[in-house]
Amino acid sequence: MNAMTLNSLRALKRDGKRFSCLTAYDASFAHLLSSSGIEVLLVGDSLGMVVRGHSSTVPVRMEEMVYHTHCVAAGNQGALLMADLPFMSYTTPAQALENSARLMQAGANVVKLEECQQLVEIIAALSGCGIPSCAHIGLAPQSVNKLGGYRVQGRDATAAQAMIEHAVALEEAGADLLLLECVPSRLAETITRQLTIPVIGIGAGAATDAQVLVLHDMLGITPGKPPKFVRNFMIGADSIQQAITGYRDAVLDGTFPGPEQSFS
Ligand code: KIV
Repeated sequence: MNAMTLNSLRALKRDGKRFSCLTAYDASFAHLLSSSGIEVLLVGDSLGMVVRGHSSTVPVRMEEMVYHTHCVAAGNQGALLMADLPFMSYTTPAQALENSARLMQAGANVVKLEECQQLVEIIAALSGCGIPSCAHIGLAPQSVNKLGGYRVQGRDATAAQAMIEHAVALEEAGADLLLLECVPSRLAETITRQLTIPVIGIGAGAATDAQVLVLHDMLGITPGKPPKFVRNFMIGADSIQQAITGYRDAVLDGTFPGPEQSFS
């Protein structure tokens, strides 16, 4: 596949076509996923849970994100590479710029930042310095201790309206992508239609421009009960390769997520 860029993703949105994203943490999976056509690889701070065995993403450090971004970049065959800024690594625009530079120099094409009070200001600073960003709003797992658990966000009318306005402000500030986690499908659809930048969903229904899942979740190897928004693509597949292709096909044809993986 030709190397994916932000322009390719914007063109897909303009043409009404969906794209797929999965997390990757090492070179072997980066190679397999990207050569299977997955358009975006996310070096997620979920590595703290699925690789390191922590109970949340809070303990993840910059050093780990830089290391895994190098590993994924080494195996990547042309997918757009997005990497997470971990907990407390972007508390000011200056800190965000410094740590984003480390991820970009390790091979990331885009940095992802979760919801925080200064998110609009930080995104504007990154954009001003030529650093592409993805704003991750809705459920922000790094704030799990403040939120009191992993809960669906934007359920009441006031919170939904605030989320729409926030998404617009992030696009205006220069965000290149938006990621919506655990929001009602109707709200995600409204935001996706209102923005010109591509919107990636997880637990946000089928109307977003793209979907993302944690690799270990969709392969059914995460211990314990998976979140509602996960489908195990190994069921009925003969190989990991087939599960990945099955996921991409289901995202592109709009059959994943179904109502059973969505919040109303
Ligand atoms: O860290 C991660 O894997 C993520 C996804 C859940 C979107 O942010």
